[in-house]
Amino acid sequence: MNTELPLVISVTSGKGGVGKTNISVNLASRLAADGKRVVLLDADLGLANVDVLLGLTPAHNLFHLFHEGVGLSDVLMDTPYGFRILPASSGVSEMLSLSAGQKITLLEAMDELEDAVDYLIVDTGAGINENVMYFNLAAQERLVILTPEPTSLTDAYALIKVMQQNHDVNDFRILVNMAGDDKSALDIFRRLYRACDHFLSGVGLDYVGMVPRDAGVRKAVINQKPFCALDRDGPACRAVTGIAKTIQSWDVPHALDGNIKFFWKRLLFRQ
Ligand SMILES: Nc1ncnc2c1ncn2[C@@H]1O[C@H](COP(=O)(O)OP(=O)(O)OP(=O)(O)O)[C@@H](O)[C@H]1O
Ligand SMILES: [Mg+2]
Repeated sequence: MNTELPLVISVTSGKGGVGKTNISVNLASRLAADGKRVVLLDADLGLANVDVLLGLTPAHNLFHLFHEGVGLSDVLMDTPYGFRILPASSGVSEMLSLSAGQKITLLEAMDELEDAVDYLIVDTGAGINENVMYFNLAAQERLVILTPEPTSLTDAYALIKVMQQNHDVNDFRILVNMAGDDKSALDIFRRLYRACDHFLSGVGLDYVGMVPRDAGVRKAVINQKPFCALDRDGPACRAVTGIAKTIQSWDVPHALDGNIKFFWKRLLFRQ
């Protein structure tokens, strides 16, 4: 039997505030609109904001999974947008660094998800801390969000450098958010590409596309709704819809006999 496993995609950046959570939420909604089964994991563990962005008040979050024995099915929460979320907790500083035990608990929870999910999107926190690295390593695909700001470029470069040099990860997908137009998005991508080409031999960058700066995004944030729910035909949503189609063309992992456990297991042996 040839069973498809979920594709785990981390959404990451280096610099904060580049649009990771907005892109994650709206990608999840567009993949769901295409009939895919999607779970969005809020991996910004101590500073949850996926639920805030969606205007939801989860009864349970990862803190309860780790500390109070609450089961995965009680932590998973439906949204009105066709996908489910695994909410993080807010203001819990110890969650900024997962313990070995917490990693195993999360791993077991992911095993439970295995058959019921096509895409697991992981919205990471900002920075290059241990948790961000952990989730980026756990993912099969890393979607790095850049913006036209020079600091975003240097921070994305730093993230890629650490991933390559410390963890042997060479392949990254690049999305430029808040771009003025296609040309400026491509310009910033090329600058990153050249820096990596020059200094980080072996790194491969794949340009996935751009999401334009769109006043509708801020409006949606204030309304606590995905921008795609507020304006399906707006520039940002149209771009994300295209990127969701691109993502569906990516290879998905296969289990030949159902015995190969969720990809995350590898992590236990790597660290
Ligand atoms: N395409 C866009 N057009 C206009 N504004 C945008 C766009 N994308 C994001 N923003 C603005 O940037 C802000 C930050 O976005 P978001 O919270 O998604 O970033 P983040 O990378 O998840 O931040 P953090 O690193 O703090 O988790 C949003 O509140 C929104 O106002
Ligand atoms: Mg965020």
